[in-house]
Amino acid sequence: MFKNDIGVIGMAVMGRNLTLNIASHGYTVSIFNRTPQKTEYIIKNFDNKTILPFFSISGFVNSLKKPRCILLMVQSGKATDNIILKLLSYLSSGDIIIDGGNSFYKDTIRRYYNLLKYNVNFIGAGISGGEYGALYGPSIMPGGNKSAYNFIKPILKSIAAKIGNESCISYIGPDGSGHYVKMVHNGIEYADMQLIAESYSMLRHILNLSNQDISDIFSQWNQGELNSYLIKITKNILKKKDSNGNDLIDCILDQADTKGTGEWACKEALELHEPLTLITMSVFSRYISVLKLQRILASNILLGPRNHCIIHNQSEFIEKIRQSLYLGKIISYSQGFSQLSHASQKYHWNLKYSNIAKIFRSGCIIQARFLNKIVEAYKYDNTTMNLLLSPYFQELANKYQNTLRQVVSDSIQYGVAIPVFSSAISYYDSYRTSFSSANLIQAQRDYFGAHTYKRYDQDGVFHTNWSSY
Ligand code: NAP
Ligand code: ATR
Repeated sequence: MFKNDIGVIGMAVMGRNLTLNIASHGYTVSIFNRTPQKTEYIIKNFDNKTILPFFSISGFVNSLKKPRCILLMVQSGKATDNIILKLLSYLSSGDIIIDGGNSFYKDTIRRYYNLLKYNVNFIGAGISGGEYGALYGPSIMPGGNKSAYNFIKPILKSIAAKIGNESCISYIGPDGSGHYVKMVHNGIEYADMQLIAESYSMLRHILNLSNQDISDIFSQWNQGELNSYLIKITKNILKKKDSNGNDLIDCILDQADTKGTGEWACKEALELHEPLTLITMSVFSRYISVLKLQRILASNILLGPRNHCIIHNQSEFIEKIRQSLYLGKIISYSQGFSQLSHASQKYHWNLKYSNIAKIFRSGCIIQARFLNKIVEAYKYDNTTMNLLLSPYFQELANKYQNTLRQVVSDSIQYGVAIPVFSSAISYYDSYRTSFSSANLIQAQRDYFGAHTYKRYDQDGVFHTNWSSY
């Protein structure tokens, strides 16, 4: 009996599009979905002889070449565990399960070691690019057993996004590292989106520009160092009209939801003691956005600035926002990559940051020209403590820091909320401060809790009886 190259489970939008992408590269694909109608829909609507439907797990597994390669594209969490459990009784030693869903990396680590007991290889692969990316080329971040990855590499490489002749896929490291990188990718995506939204807010509410004007500004910015997918779609969003000819953006409710991976990145930052301030503030900004009724109430009670400065030179201010957006973005990526480095040490993943930045350059939501600068920085030195200290980024930070400062201060005077821009300059100043105010914190901790402190001028650990003068 003819056996197929790979199986895909989960025929929602991502699984379906990845299946079509794999089949278009000449591979034969078995498909299965819990609800059979979705499988039937694909067979009816996509005339592709290399996609074969199955309606039982046993039939699906038996249709595959050994070692079997099975890509899971189901909801993360319990659904993924359920499917793995159902598959297990039909799998053989050496088979490979690839989880392409947005799984939490600790679940991936657990599944990896659990499946090892059955000699089943588990690859946790972050897949980014949404439904379009899945169909035409996503960015893929696979973690797990390297020889199992090498076995499935030709298929995954063929479907990944391309940049020049390079595919946006790279082996990330052991067990949960691929899903960890995807989690941080999503966190970075949150901060990128929030920085762009705050730039829009300044242009709209400080300069009173129209959506069309702002779209034109984003279009210009997209030609330079800010060139990215998110700037491009923002430009398009701002000029979109609804069916009544109104600017669609003005009709969209200002409440942003979250699906979870941004929050995971923040919780992990707390666990690692990593100052991931921009991403965390981006998540908090979405939470504040949801408090619409409270915000409406407060807008009628709480005062803003009485007088504010006047921006005399509009084009100069627009350029300042552009520079601040770029520096804010750099600070956010510095924090994200620093968190990756911390996790890599903790879990012994030996991450290669240059390769990670490389695969973000196409196929995914955060794709941007400036990622080439990160690729270069880490290619030069994979142990760089913080991107802000690497040659290109330190030069740029020194050039733009004053502008970021001015933009934040002007916005605060206007009463326009820019929480992530503010976090960026606060982090920047905290990070470059050789003497912080933490001496006072230590003294307070020792005063009320006898937590002790260290001194500059003497070795050892000290406690003071603070109430005796
Ligand atoms: P989804 O809505 O996240 O998941 C739906 C799929 O999961 C359906 O095939 C559904 O089967 C299956 N499923 C749910 N509960 C199940 C259970 N208990 N047992 C078996 N199957 C179950 O679909 P998606 O948006 O295509 O995403 C698939 C995965 O990719 C998710 O992990 C998602 O987080 C990740 N992802 C999504 C995107 C995106 O842009 N959407 C991007 C990257 C990664 P039924 O049809 O039977 O309900
Ligand atoms: P990608 O890696 O391709 O960007 P993703 O990680 O699944 O895909 O999520 C990308 C965007 O789609 C995010 O904005 C995400 O929502 P959050 O911002 O809350 O994380 C959104 N998204 C993902 N899955 C979604 C779903 N099932 N329903 C609605 N939005 C979803």
